[in-house]
Amino acid sequence: MFILVNLKTYPCDPVAVAEAVRDVDDGSDARIAVAPQAAHLERVAETGAETWAQHVDPIDHGSNTGHSLAEGVVDAGAAGTLINHSERRLKLADADGAVRAAERAGLETVVCANNPAQIGAAAALGPDAVAVEPPELIGTGTPVSQADPDVVEDAVDAAANVDPDVAVLCGAGISTGDDVVAAADLGSGGVLLASGVAKADDPRAALEELVEPL
Ligand code: G3P
Repeated sequence: MFILVNLKTYPCDPVAVAEAVRDVDDGSDARIAVAPQAAHLERVAETGAETWAQHVDPIDHGSNTGHSLAEGVVDAGAAGTLINHSERRLKLADADGAVRAAERAGLETVVCANNPAQIGAAAALGPDAVAVEPPELIGTGTPVSQADPDVVEDAVDAAANVDPDVAVLCGAGISTGDDVVAAADLGSGGVLLASGVAKADDPRAALEELVEPL
């Protein structure tokens, strides 16, 4: 299972969380990566944790101001990027451009979507993976795998209909090892989560608990 921990703009210590991600990843069968804010990418990548960007823009080198260039994100040490997160929505053409920019720079991609219908569109953009996250469950602590298992199963089917090689992650409210197991049982290849780790009193313990049943 792939566990991608999005730190959003939570006021956690990104380096401490990254060190925990690195150590728990080393000691488990799961693949764990961390997505800090853009300004923290380099410091986080220096820990040796697999580091992802939260976003890249559909741009190339040139006359762009205030954007996130895929090559810049790679220079900072990122291995992959989220695209079209529910808190960083893009128009379809821009999501497509962002996937192309990420590919050009050699970044792995996860395109996010709200529901199974959008997952089909996201998979058609040709990313490495898609992630289904019902926005109303984000940050609630109520796992999508429990509150709305059909969403996960339908997303897995929708992605497979477009491209059987595209992995499907699910996210929103995931915080325990049981949630991760439930996600796997529904056909998901991983989970995307944030508050369960970034807002935990002890992020390392939270990560250990996530991988414990795997
Ligand atoms: O990117 C992860 C996400 O939006 C889910 O957030 O806090 O419900 O795990 P959370």
